[in-house]
Amino acid sequence: MGSPTLAEREAAALCGTYRRVPVTLVRGDGCFVETADGRRLLDLVGGIAVNLLGHCQAEVVAAATAQMGRLMHTSNLYYTEPQVELAERLAASAFPSRAFLCNSGAEANEAAIKVARKWGQLHRQGAYTILTLEGAFHGRTLATLAATGNAHYSDPFRPLPNGFRQVPRDDLGAVELALADPGRPAVAVMAEPIQGESGVHLLEDSYLRGLRELCDQHQALLILDEVQTGMGRTGRMWAYQHSGAVPDVMTVAKGVGGGLPLGAALVGKRADVFEAGDHGSTFGGNPVAAAAGLAVLRVVERDHLWQRAAVAGDQFKEAILSLRQEGHPVVETRGRGLLLGVGLASPIAAELGRLALDEGILVNPIGDSTIRLAPPLTISDGEIEMAVAAIGRALGRASGASRP
Ligand SMILES: Cc1ncc(COP(=O)(O)O)c(C=O)c1O
Repeated sequence: MGSPTLAEREAAALCGTYRRVPVTLVRGDGCFVETADGRRLLDLVGGIAVNLLGHCQAEVVAAATAQMGRLMHTSNLYYTEPQVELAERLAASAFPSRAFLCNSGAEANEAAIKVARKWGQLHRQGAYTILTLEGAFHGRTLATLAATGNAHYSDPFRPLPNGFRQVPRDDLGAVELALADPGRPAVAVMAEPIQGESGVHLLEDSYLRGLRELCDQHQALLILDEVQTGMGRTGRMWAYQHSGAVPDVMTVAKGVGGGLPLGAALVGKRADVFEAGDHGSTFGGNPVAAAAGLAVLRVVERDHLWQRAAVAGDQFKEAILSLRQEGHPVVETRGRGLLLGVGLASPIAAELGRLALDEGILVNPIGDSTIRLAPPLTISDGEIEMAVAAIGRALGRASGASRP
């Protein structure tokens, strides 16, 4: 009997929570990853919107390595320079705020939820309900599952914490009704500027401004989850900046750590209620992750990578839509900058994912008929051309794809 494959060992050793693409990645540089059997793949998934600067970007590696050689971990009992500087720079890139540093998007949202609850106790006679939008995704902890409100993710884990109420997306009237409901007074509205996990659905700028106004009118906090949209990905440093609707709390993670686990809740003055002992995390703002985060911020700001994301995103959209002229079943592109959803005419997303891998690219099927693309912001024009050509070839091989 031969030795077990990695997939067999994985199945025996890890909880089976992930449906993996059948490929083992061993190395990465720029927009490419290399597989254990020596294939080089163009990575349009970017670690699910994490690898903003590509894989193993030299300045991030150098910053993290240098910090590892100096001091790797201290806990939050002591001061460390990188986390203070990171918080200062995040605030400078967004809005006046203080940060709670953590390790992931779900944790950043947990912090935001705790801020809203304490704020409700202090300023809204104990109101605690948080309004979220249909199609949201805020994480996999119990509270963020409740905020996500998707039965598929949460049903096996009931009961969930209460205090969350979902309203239809793109319907300010529904938000207003819920905010004005005296039976369930709401303390905050929580939303993603672009809903990534449910298929890349953009909230219009006017809608975000409407949310801001409603939150002001009804004494509620606006919490924006920029875990997926932040750090230049959508064509601005933060997606809310397209609209001018400044949140009271903004959550960030994914790209901010350059591939290391790092997240933050940026808490604006109005919402700044945390005091010593209110919240904590052993690893939150770990010096190595913070040093990597600082390097990512420096590069994104120095190279104005949000501009690159805007230009590359438009180029991508145009090239993908032009595939329709060859009879490929592309219905639309959604999203902004380099957070793109490609809507397909039939439920071939999973098949397309497999065929694309065969054609040498990684794409991320979400749902039956959407492909998500969230490549590094450093992707070149040539790599975009290469990607779209491969998507075209994969579409050409997909079953049920219509031909002229
Ligand atoms: C908008 C949004 N919020 C929160 C999360 C959860 O982040 P994490 O997986 O780091 O906990 C995600 C992850 O996909 C996300 O897209």
